[in-house]
Amino acid sequence: MTVTIVGSQLGDEGKGGVVDLYGDEVDVVARYQGGDNAGHTVVFGEEEYKLSLVPSGAIRGKVGVLGNGCVVNPETLFAEIDGLRERGLDPDVRVAERAHVILPYHRVLDGIEETAKEDSDLDAGTTGRGIGPTYEDKIGRRGIRIGDLLDPDSLRTKLEYVVPQKRALAEDVFGATTDEAFDIGSLYEQYRRYGERLAEEEMTVNAGGFLTERIEAGENVMFEGAQGTSIDIDHGDYPYVTSSNPTAGYAATGTGVGPTVVGRGEVIGIVKAYLTRVGTGELPTELGSVEGQTPEDGGRPEMADLATEIRDEGGEYGTVTGRPRRVGWLDVPMIRHAARVSGFTGLAINHIDVLAGMDEVEVGHSYDLDGEEILTMPPTSKQWARCEVNYRRFDGWPEADWEAVAAEGYDAIPENARTYLEYISDELDTPIYAVGVGPGREQTVIVETPFA
Ligand code: IMP
Repeated sequence: MTVTIVGSQLGDEGKGGVVDLYGDEVDVVARYQGGDNAGHTVVFGEEEYKLSLVPSGAIRGKVGVLGNGCVVNPETLFAEIDGLRERGLDPDVRVAERAHVILPYHRVLDGIEETAKEDSDLDAGTTGRGIGPTYEDKIGRRGIRIGDLLDPDSLRTKLEYVVPQKRALAEDVFGATTDEAFDIGSLYEQYRRYGERLAEEEMTVNAGGFLTERIEAGENVMFEGAQGTSIDIDHGDYPYVTSSNPTAGYAATGTGVGPTVVGRGEVIGIVKAYLTRVGTGELPTELGSVEGQTPEDGGRPEMADLATEIRDEGGEYGTVTGRPRRVGWLDVPMIRHAARVSGFTGLAINHIDVLAGMDEVEVGHSYDLDGEEILTMPPTSKQWARCEVNYRRFDGWPEADWEAVAAEGYDAIPENARTYLEYISDELDTPIYAVGVGPGREQTVIVETPFA
């Protein structure tokens, strides 16, 4: 049995908490895309863990797999593993030999190109972790894979081919000065050592084979998507996106199990009850927090204070970068699009506690685009920018003792909040499996257990 967890918005929907919620029944948690650009916060007992690469299930003693679709920065990987060990945990993390490696020059080039793009407003506001340049090299068939770190000759041959190109790109195209991030000798030594450690700790696997054996043995596997649908390289707000596919189809490609295996399982869409965005790009339901935004731009500057309230109440600051997140009302065309792309079988709706205490809660129900009402996100960012939002208003719900609500179950959720939740479920034609009413595992109302 498999369960795939997918972000239905722009990332930061609280996927880590949902992975953790169903963690008891899970034997293996596999990531299928992205790298240390992701940030998940998991609260376990009194402890809070912030991870960017290691799958969150590893905290609970599950096997964590970084699939072939991931891009892996070994420095981050070992820093996170060492950090967990220092806190008394013993994470079991496996890495696909087919996964690509993020090298220091990828991070440098990520920053250089973002700056170069700024004048044309093409910068995505990346996390600076080298994600895009690493995927570029993968597709360009010049990437270095985890398997190459285990084979020093192969590592050297590839570095000798690729590093001079990267140096020329940085220096001659972008006019930057380069340092040891572009030095073949020191890269070779450092990454060969990472390979030795991976081998010593027996961390590398053929992910597809490893996972298939586990599934055939009757174990439960969870595929943990990072980021969200609207920053998917194919289905998101291109070019203001990440360079991988967070949507469910990639759970198969990015781990090496068949799409029929993923499709026989559940696909749970994670929805935050409102919206946040950490990078650049449009946000039609934004609560006017962008500098200089006016009602004529479609912004709602009069709601900037509300955005600040939600940001502070929801702790909406980047896990990886610490950046304050932009805030908007729930965008229903966005999540209808997500439900179709990934074929959600269930929903986990988070953070309804953050909206408690407001007189009124709004949602963007549909858009008007060039005189026509549309119900899902249009395919280009220019079209999305032209969309005018048709809002619907819901009566607010009061603060509650959310832990008690979680213990009592769905019917204990304040009535107006249930009306809001059921509207979302009806619009996506997908049942609610869980409702997040706080950051901890105990602050979740469980309606359905997908592994049961
Ligand atoms: P990159 O993934 O670092 O290349 O960044 C590309 C875009 O994706 C930027 O707008 C980032 O802010 C956004 N992004 C990447 N990872 C996350 C995440 O985990 N949560 C939210 N946004 C993200």
